[in-house]
Amino acid sequence: MIFTTVDRKSSKSLTQQVYEQIRNGILDGKLKEGQKLLSSRELAKIINVSRNVVLEAYHRLLAEGYIEVKPRSGTFIAKGTSLEHIGAKKLDIEKKQKEELEDSIIDFRGGNPAIDHFPRKKWGDLTKKICNESPQSIFGYSSACGIQELRDVLVSYLRRARGVHCQPEQIIITSGATQGLKLITELLITDKKRDYIAVEDPVTDEMRNIFTYAKAEIYPVSVDENGIIPELLPKEKPNFVFVIPSHQYPLGGILSIQRRLKLIEYARRMNCYIVEDDYDSEFTYEGAPVPAMQGIDQERVLYVGTFSKILSPALRIGYVVLPAHLVGEFQKLKWFTDRHTSTLEQHTLARFIEGGYLDKHIRKMRKIYQERRLVLVNSIQKYFHQAKIIGKAAGMHLVVEMAGIDFKKELVQKIKEKGVCIYPVEEYSIKKGEHTQKIIMGYGGLTPEQIKKGILLLRDALNEYKG
Ligand SMILES: Cc1ncc(COP(=O)(O)O)c(C=O)c1O
Repeated sequence: MIFTTVDRKSSKSLTQQVYEQIRNGILDGKLKEGQKLLSSRELAKIINVSRNVVLEAYHRLLAEGYIEVKPRSGTFIAKGTSLEHIGAKKLDIEKKQKEELEDSIIDFRGGNPAIDHFPRKKWGDLTKKICNESPQSIFGYSSACGIQELRDVLVSYLRRARGVHCQPEQIIITSGATQGLKLITELLITDKKRDYIAVEDPVTDEMRNIFTYAKAEIYPVSVDENGIIPELLPKEKPNFVFVIPSHQYPLGGILSIQRRLKLIEYARRMNCYIVEDDYDSEFTYEGAPVPAMQGIDQERVLYVGTFSKILSPALRIGYVVLPAHLVGEFQKLKWFTDRHTSTLEQHTLARFIEGGYLDKHIRKMRKIYQERRLVLVNSIQKYFHQAKIIGKAAGMHLVVEMAGIDFKKELVQKIKEKGVCIYPVEEYSIKKGEHTQKIIMGYGGLTPEQIKKGILLLRDALNEYKG
């Protein structure tokens, strides 16, 4: 039974105090249905009141149905009295309804990959093999750089697939690109009063948050349909320039070779670094993928990659390819952060790449994303005649410009109420006002049916809004 104490200085009678404490205990679930109460004699003794005080309180509780008396057994908390029980049921129903609503929403978020196609079977088989057949040492602590096997296979994969030139010693396995970028910021931004980063504008909110959380100054450099505009880079040396040259997020441009060279020239002249985020460039649907900038200059470019998009964000495996002279310091930062990324997952991934399964998976996913993109493009063209599709046919998202529609918060909310989530480019912009009529539409994580349905709902929502 819960404690009961009485305050003799209180304006409330002793009976009222005992009654209220037991009643409140029942209502908020501290006293459970079916639980036995102390006898009036025992309770009176414990709290040092006369037995009549307790008897009177019990009578009231009995009259109101909170307790029941079972002959020769005692006094018990009555059934159906627990507010916690009633409240929890209500909360459960509300939670379920909310979840159902969230589940039914068609979410065009940009970076969502097709997790319905994760190679579960192969991954599971390899994981089992590694657990059963590997030496005991793989279950111990490992190097902060990542396991040798993965770094070795990455060297040849990155050279072949992305034109990246490096030695295994230059690669550090991170817990996703997010951690890679966070550690790069820590490494390169040392004087928070003076140091700053030149950043593509608009830019992904996640990456921008990493920089601002590190309290680094940000210098926005506008982006057009062909990526960052080199002429707009700052006149004073930044610590680094952050770019996504292979498929800019969100506008989707691929940086031309002329602009790439200007950017490299700039970094050399200013004696600063370029941080190249190459998160989804395996998926290009027209022409060959443009090789990474790291292939042009290995001293100036820090290359960041991830397996979140080509396999699954749940793996939390990314990597950074560093100029050799930065490896030591970066490795220390990684060690201080989490010692190392999960070794077991790294072993599975190394085998997955080595066995040729990654290439196969990428080929399969390219077709799936290409189809999803096509469905989205066709649906947009069918229902929005004025809409302009922006961005190269690559990755898992595109940008749509709808002349005359300002995607303000209230409109986005109205569209959400119809069951669709879309993402205004303006929310990713540092300089406001330049992209108000553009939205990001990710298609990676949606089936063709969901895409078609989503576009119809969007059309209805916009028609209603226009009135
Ligand atoms: C531009 C960009 N790069 C990289 C990533 C991947 O981050 P991570 O590897 O930590 O999942 C994202 C995630 O959405 C992203 O938007």
